[in-house]
Amino acid sequence: MKLRPRRLGLFLAVLFLMPVSALALDEMIGRALFRRAWVPAPSSTKANDGLGPLFNARSCAACHRTLDRLPVETGADGIVASDHMVLRISDPQGSPDPVYGRQLQSASVTGVAPEGRVTRTKNGYAPGDLAYGPLAPGMRFGVLLAPSLRGLGGLDGVSDEMLARFASENARRDDGVRGRVNWVTDARGLRRAGRFGWKASQPTLAVQVQTAFALDLGLSTPEHAGPQGDCTAAQTACLAAPMGSEGGEAEISAEIVSRITSYLSSIQPPEPTAAGASGLSSFTATGCAACHRPSLPTPSGSVGAFTDLLLHDLGPDLDGGATEPGVAATEWRTAPLWGLSRTLANAAGLMHDGRARTIEEAVGLHGGEAAFSRTRFRALPEAEKRRLIAFLSSL
Ligand code: HEC
Ligand code: HEC
Repeated sequence: MKLRPRRLGLFLAVLFLMPVSALALDEMIGRALFRRAWVPAPSSTKANDGLGPLFNARSCAACHRTLDRLPVETGADGIVASDHMVLRISDPQGSPDPVYGRQLQSASVTGVAPEGRVTRTKNGYAPGDLAYGPLAPGMRFGVLLAPSLRGLGGLDGVSDEMLARFASENARRDDGVRGRVNWVTDARGLRRAGRFGWKASQPTLAVQVQTAFALDLGLSTPEHAGPQGDCTAAQTACLAAPMGSEGGEAEISAEIVSRITSYLSSIQPPEPTAAGASGLSSFTATGCAACHRPSLPTPSGSVGAFTDLLLHDLGPDLDGGATEPGVAATEWRTAPLWGLSRTLANAAGLMHDGRARTIEEAVGLHGGEAAFSRTRFRALPEAEKRRLIAFLSSL
């Protein structure tokens, strides 16, 4: 890889000042790659190019500006100005739009029209300025916020068998909780338990990184071989644009993927702001812990993420519009609750699209499998409800 002179200087200084293990060096390079702005092909720096033809941002860090979730900003014209939100498009079965593909790309290389922009509407968000005509009949859409990137290495370490066990425990419950594993097949044909993304459709951190390159940046990877990213057969200018890969090699190498994955794995889980043990018992008694498991066992200990990484149907109030194959529009991965204090401090909004402003509003949206728990929450004596909210706000 090529490094800008300033960065290289910094690396060398650090190398001389202290012994850096190979792993730590990998993480540092991974962090630089996470921030790197990729450029369209053809460019003078072959190693950096291949961006697009359609894309949402030029770097991972453009959307993940911080490690935490951020609030969405909308201009006076109703156009969403924030990169860290994407608009997905699909039919009710999760098949992409024949022209726009899976995601609305708001940026493009010269000679290719960007697909459109996300606009704020009275009760949500919608695609605007559509450059390739209307969406196909029956298509639905919905937005997703960029999640926090803290502590993901721990979630990567939870075994597929453990998630399968949680699901079979769920099948024996009598309160309506029916979490299930989102089983997906990776590029090598292996069946893996999905766990990353709001729909738990990405089985490992390394695969999630590659999906981000393909869908958000239009760069091919070993897992997603097509250099055209989310261009469809109907987008001829996009397919004809120069691509960054030669001889079938991916634009993003396995080495780059592995370094960014090392960097992400090295990011520590969020620290709770204060102890609130008394809130944990009412959290459990209210049924919240049926899905938001306080701790997940891993081969090297446990992670306190407050999730089971399973898909749950939360009912029609949380219909996300677009979805992915094999997942209902009302099904979501149990959102990890660690880091809630940071999301609240940023006023970033709760749930996949940030529509809930407070914990109480978020619980109010919990229907379907979580309806029993919402009922118990509402019936809590005021002081206990406040204790429970204080506990969650400290995570
Ligand atoms: C256009 C904005 C955008 C860009 C660019 C982007 N991301 Fe994301 N990222 C998102 C959104 C939105 C999600 C949620 C996607 C979903 O649920 O399917 C996400 C999800 C993730 C997750 C999963 C987190 C979790 O809790 O499951 C990881 C890891 C991640 N991104 C890493 C990356 C990396 C690495 C890159 C660069 C290769 C990148 N992202 C580029 C917006 C972006
Ligand atoms: C049946 C499973 C289930 C139960 C029970 C449940 N939740 Fe959830 N919870 C979820 C899912 C799934 C999401 C993600 C929804 C989304 O992304 O739109 C979520 C999201 C949340 C969020 C938003 C987190 C974020 O980062 O945006 C909060 C807060 C929350 N739950 C609190 C609670 C509390 C408090 C209880 C108990 C009263 C509870 N949940 C019970 C499954 C459940």
